[in-house]
Amino acid sequence: MTASEIETKASFDHIRYAQLWEDADILTQAFGDCAGGTLVSICAAGDNALAMLTLDPAKVVVVDLSPAQIACLRLRMGAFSALSHPEFLELMGARASNRRKALLARALAGLDAQTQAFWAGLAEDVALYGAGGVGKFERYFRIFRTRLLPLVHSGKTLDDVFVPRGKADRQTFYDTRFNTFRWRILLNLFFSRFVMGRMGRDKAFFDHVDGSPAQHVARRIHHAAVETDPAQNPYLHWILHGTHGAALPMTWRAEHFDTIRSRLERIDIRPGSLEAFVSTGERADGFNLSDIFEYMSPAVFAQVYGSILAAAAPKARLVYWNMMAPRRVPPAFAAQVTRQRGIEDRLKAQDNAFFYSDFVVEAVNG
Ligand SMILES: C[S@@+](CC[C@H](N)C(=O)[O-])C[C@H]1O[C@@H](n2cnc3c(N)ncnc32)[C@H](O)[C@@H]1O
Repeated sequence: MTASEIETKASFDHIRYAQLWEDADILTQAFGDCAGGTLVSICAAGDNALAMLTLDPAKVVVVDLSPAQIACLRLRMGAFSALSHPEFLELMGARASNRRKALLARALAGLDAQTQAFWAGLAEDVALYGAGGVGKFERYFRIFRTRLLPLVHSGKTLDDVFVPRGKADRQTFYDTRFNTFRWRILLNLFFSRFVMGRMGRDKAFFDHVDGSPAQHVARRIHHAAVETDPAQNPYLHWILHGTHGAALPMTWRAEHFDTIRSRLERIDIRPGSLEAFVSTGERADGFNLSDIFEYMSPAVFAQVYGSILAAAAPKARLVYWNMMAPRRVPPAFAAQVTRQRGIEDRLKAQDNAFFYSDFVVEAVNG
């Protein structure tokens, strides 16, 4: 199968995710030792495919149905090549900047004409929000932050979220200062299916979701605010402040900049579906599947899962998230993989991209 079910339902003509809202720190730990192997990654904004270079694979094959998402990866590759690390952070929006257009031009200079033209059309938005702030998903967070959040919390409360505290004090802060009546009203309104579909995610993505998005979000905010430390959480910081604070996502941290830069030629971009890659006959030692299964009906999920197994080397790991719809190895393939429960539980507890309800690590037997 090469056509993808969601391809026919959702439109992919603009950037949906301008940064990766999946935690690369847990993704890379889930793969174990992959040195010298072939890895496959869904692209999205490209950050996690780049993070996978730190595992020292021979190559990372990157697939995505959306040319706009592939353009996000190409821009990052240009930026890693042409900019210093502090400049990279400015361009992406992690740090304030008044020179993003110039940084964008330098990052694009060595790239293909199509990518240059695509990003030239977004230069004004990049200047305002950073290249990591220009997707539909980030726009949704921006509206939340600028128009609604001020009705509920003061700037002081939002700053205080990021003061380092022990767990007991985080619970007290959450109970007494954050989880107020107004906050709960806001969550229920903003995370209604209607509003999320209109502003953040395509309505088709909710076809298979159980329960209310607001209930799910409330549970996950408790994880981000109390179970884990907000002071260490770049995703929460971006949502509440529109930029990063002390904490950065793995790919954007200084400690990985030179490693990623020196391995950029190991990125092998294949625009198109994952299903197209798995039908090439190539084999891979690990798959970062993002949360794509959630966008498929259970029947299509089972079919795609089977085709991934056919393209997986023995011991290959399949790593993926579920946001709201439950997806794990379909019964027909259960004997061919082993759930890595210990790894899942350890990594789920430290997942800073807190919106997901599940993180799955399955290893191919053999
Ligand atoms: C599933 S979305 C989720 C993004 C995400 N949770 C994040 O934080 O960025 C990631 C990407 O998967 C791509 N995608 C979805 N289904 C795909 C498929 N079957 N093959 C290739 N790419 C796919 C979409 O175009 C999108 O760019």
